[in-house]
Amino acid sequence: MAVIFPSLFRPAACAAVTVLLTPLMADTPLPYRDSNQTIETRVADLLPRMTLDEKLGQLSQSVICEPRHREEPNPSLVRSGRLGAFILAIDPAVSVEIHNQFQHIAVEESRLGIPLLFGYDAIHGFRTTFPIPLGLASTWDPALVERAQAVSARETRAAGVDWTFAPMSDLARDARWGRVAETFGEDPFLTSQLAAASVRGFQGTDPGAPGHVAATLKHYLGYSAAVGGRDYNLTEITPFALRNLHLPSFHAGVQAGALTVMSSFNANDGIPAVSDRHQLTDILRGDLGFKGFVVSDWEGVIESIAWGYSATPAEAARRSLAAGNDMEMVSTSYRDTLAAEIAAGRIPPAVIDEAVRRVLRVKFALGLFEHPYTPALAADKVFLQPDAVALARETVARSAVLLQNPDVLPLAKTVKHLALIGPLGDDGDEMLGTWPGMGRPQDVVTLAQGLRAKLAPGATLEVVRGCDLLEAGPRTRTLMDGSVVIDPVAEARETPGIAAAVAAANRADVVILALGEPRGWSGENASRAELSLTGRQSELLAAVTATGRPLVIVTFSGRPLVIPTLPVNAAWLHAWHPGVQAGTGLADVLFGDAVPSGRLAITFPRAVGQLPLFYNGYTTGRPDKRDYRDLPSEPLYPFGYGLSYTTFRYGAVEIVPPAQPGQPATARTTVINTGRRPADEVVQLYLRDVACSEGARPEQELRGWQRVHLAPGETRTVSFALDDAALGFFNREGRWLTEPGDFLVWIAPHAHIGEGARYTLTR
Ligand code: BGC
Repeated sequence: MAVIFPSLFRPAACAAVTVLLTPLMADTPLPYRDSNQTIETRVADLLPRMTLDEKLGQLSQSVICEPRHREEPNPSLVRSGRLGAFILAIDPAVSVEIHNQFQHIAVEESRLGIPLLFGYDAIHGFRTTFPIPLGLASTWDPALVERAQAVSARETRAAGVDWTFAPMSDLARDARWGRVAETFGEDPFLTSQLAAASVRGFQGTDPGAPGHVAATLKHYLGYSAAVGGRDYNLTEITPFALRNLHLPSFHAGVQAGALTVMSSFNANDGIPAVSDRHQLTDILRGDLGFKGFVVSDWEGVIESIAWGYSATPAEAARRSLAAGNDMEMVSTSYRDTLAAEIAAGRIPPAVIDEAVRRVLRVKFALGLFEHPYTPALAADKVFLQPDAVALARETVARSAVLLQNPDVLPLAKTVKHLALIGPLGDDGDEMLGTWPGMGRPQDVVTLAQGLRAKLAPGATLEVVRGCDLLEAGPRTRTLMDGSVVIDPVAEARETPGIAAAVAAANRADVVILALGEPRGWSGENASRAELSLTGRQSELLAAVTATGRPLVIVTFSGRPLVIPTLPVNAAWLHAWHPGVQAGTGLADVLFGDAVPSGRLAITFPRAVGQLPLFYNGYTTGRPDKRDYRDLPSEPLYPFGYGLSYTTFRYGAVEIVPPAQPGQPATARTTVINTGRRPADEVVQLYLRDVACSEGARPEQELRGWQRVHLAPGETRTVSFALDDAALGFFNREGRWLTEPGDFLVWIAPHAHIGEGARYTLTR
């Protein structure tokens, strides 16, 4: 397996001159302090100088978070070298000061002066919060995602954080799982491209250079396959699925040079990922060639006791370290128990040394020995800069997916009176989504503000909340955990909020309904059993629909929603949780200043009972018998789907034989813009391996896409090489194989469309 290992572990990455005043400083710097030495030389020099306690310190990460960030972390642990890293989860107004305060202790007061590493979850932006990753994925634009993550890195590093716990490289296989919001969708190919783009955005070509941070591929491995979509649950991933679904995005991230990987909370086949040697060592290091370090997830090491896998903290620590999990996040079993485990001969010292080497390499690659401190933060020169804000606005417009549009959108610029109704029309905080970084509600342009800025002189916008996101009503009931679900059998009764909304709708030329789920209902530990609108929003929707006014529904959520009562004569724009530029980007789309080009990275089901549902399932032996008694098995909207303000027509797929033996054949088709607007189309290549000797392949697999911009009436021929990368698959041992035989080929606007063209690969 070809693996491009980052060129980061070379001296050029740390070219700056070392000027550190520490107790050890002599006229000639010690080799490990000499930036002219290679990283390997520096590591080899430093390691033998370390005591066992100092080594275990490098494998331990603690947390600094609100509100007790000044007292809580123990400075004496840092001073004695018994702590190597922090999670710095505090406001940027103080984070630089706290970073430098602890770094000062590590660098100037500890025996060897090894700098600390500070990590944080900047997942879709730091202060400039971009759309959630599932929204970013809907752009199908790796270059755009790379630019967004580069902005995030710039802001993150300036706040004293040199390591982000992103990109999430898990697959969204079950929309009940709250963390689908953090994924790049359900498909391994799309996720691979966007995970790699994120790594490039975060790390640049030199993560040690100002404005870059180390990236983390997480959660390794298969976390998203949690049974029932319940967070943290068991996974049952077969070797074939592991290799072809869950692993490719990590492989792509490793090839892009990711410096760290985070092990996941799940246990596959009963083995907690944090202690799974086959995954962490044989596959990650052996097959994928990963050379950085692995950090556990939050208390993940110690959680193997609750799983029922390890009996004691010592056993949990030993098994995780031996498996290949180098650093322990938050829990302290490494620091507390591993010295005794070594003394008792239960773990060889060489295992510790190897883990420490991996951590030190990353610290050298980040240039921390040369530049341990963070310059004072000039927030107004770093955060929310004009280029960042403009990019955020563009990503909002590009991530929104137009799902239904019976000629309601775009809005006429001359519209006289708009009503914006719903709990999400003017709520800044809700726009930020899960893991909002340090994004602030007051920085958000709400939809109300964005629309107002677009109105023609004299036109008006009436904003009515209608109901709250979690308001209990006669048609809702509250479950034992406090969550509120719709009770379809109870009587509807009007409330003052809904009555006011109806009155406003009746006055309006066009009504925009801003509905969805609270941002706290997606993300970690936020699985849902229902994907409906929360609180009384379904009643609000029904009441406003009944007015018969032209209607646009804009939905905000961290996952697909199921809205059985969505009126067919309304437009539906799905906006995810879009971040600080929510209102500007969406107003651009609604008024037609931007033409929608977002495409679903996750399937929209018709009903929760269809879940898990994804486009790349199997035909089964009875392809015509896949429906439920009470529902088709087809989704409401498939993967890849999204409308535009223009229309496109696709020609038939043509297979062009190779020009010369040994070259790949080509699949091509024509795409015509048959509408009246210039627009982007995302032309997608899907393949099916009709008969595979190693095991049946999915009904369709995305193997390429191209974004084309077409003027009205313009035709473009779009071609894809049917090469090894397009036609192959991984066998259970991780070997990439391409078998001669028949393939079906689709070049299409989304998955599951029509008959595929047949292509026969011969040797
Ligand atoms: C999450 C990780 C996150 C970590 C640190 C955990 O609970 O699962 O995704 O990076 O916390 O904040």
